[in-house]
Amino acid sequence: MKIKQICVVSFSPTGGTERAARVTAGELARRLAAETRLIDFTRPENRQREYRFAPDELVLVCTPVYAGRIPNKLLPELRARILGAGQTPALAVCVFGGRSVDEALRELVLLLDGNGFHTAGAAAFVCRHAFSDRVGAGRPDDADRLQMREFARKAAEKLECGAPLSPLPIDRSEIGPYYTPLKADGTPARFLKAKPLTREDICTRCGLCVQACPMHSIDETTMEAVGLCIKCQACVRHCPVHAKYFADADFLSHTAMLEQTCTERAENILLV
Ligand SMILES: Cc1cc2nc3c(=O)[nH]c(=O)nc-3n(C[C@H](O)[C@H](O)[C@H](O)COP(=O)(O)O)c2cc1C
Ligand code: SF4
Ligand code: SF4
Repeated sequence: MKIKQICVVSFSPTGGTERAARVTAGELARRLAAETRLIDFTRPENRQREYRFAPDELVLVCTPVYAGRIPNKLLPELRARILGAGQTPALAVCVFGGRSVDEALRELVLLLDGNGFHTAGAAAFVCRHAFSDRVGAGRPDDADRLQMREFARKAAEKLECGAPLSPLPIDRSEIGPYYTPLKADGTPARFLKAKPLTREDICTRCGLCVQACPMHSIDETTMEAVGLCIKCQACVRHCPVHAKYFADADFLSHTAMLEQTCTERAENILLV
């Protein structure tokens, strides 16, 4: 099968997913000698449009894992706007912070297969956890990047060999519930309503957090989070003076729990 274009759809508030997307797409482009088109699905305006992909395009869909699933606010937008033409080849990539990928990869494959794509490969790669530099620390590293390129190589070979693509061998039963985050004492952490706060004394009102928020939830006059917050940490991570922070006790306790329990090196998953 001759692939004319590689289209990369990536939702990446703190940049980890985008890093995996770029390494994987770079190797795919080299192997398939095809141009790459990037669709930044982190930007709210880009998630308002519908994208239809032809059978000679390869679509690499990359999403972070939130609570063991595709981020729940992203899910309906992926389902409604990222559309194949029946047999459009796709690759599913989930990026997770070293706790667990749980149902997210399976969920993405099933979503794509139900949206006019034929998912030829799926992978989950570890990256630094958005909540803490100490979870998934230093990931992705050289060994991860090697595996990203390995995944791309195998996917490219599969697409180029011309044999009909068989469905990926994954469990196709109903997707399980979202992971319930736990506090350090093992009880459920309830931080759905938590929002970032701002250290007014050091905020320079540069507006970078406003631009970074994928939910468009930060008021450009007050710099306060006024709309829906998905706890993605984009505002915290993009603030050049570290003025944004979360003070919610359950959120902080969950982060502490992750720092205590997710210390072992987590493995990537490659299915191709
Ligand atoms: C709200 C939220 C929930 C998360 N849930 C999980 C999870 O269930 N398992 C896991 O391993 N990592 C989890 N993470 C970590 C992210 O998957 C990881 O930080 C990812 O790289 C974030 O993507 P980004 O850097 O592209 O924004 C979560 C992060 C956030 C912000
Ligand atoms: S990015 Fe930081 S310094 Fe800039 S407006 Fe937002 S909180 Fe203030
Ligand atoms: S306000 Fe919430 S949704 Fe917006 S960038 Fe900050 S953490 Fe993410």
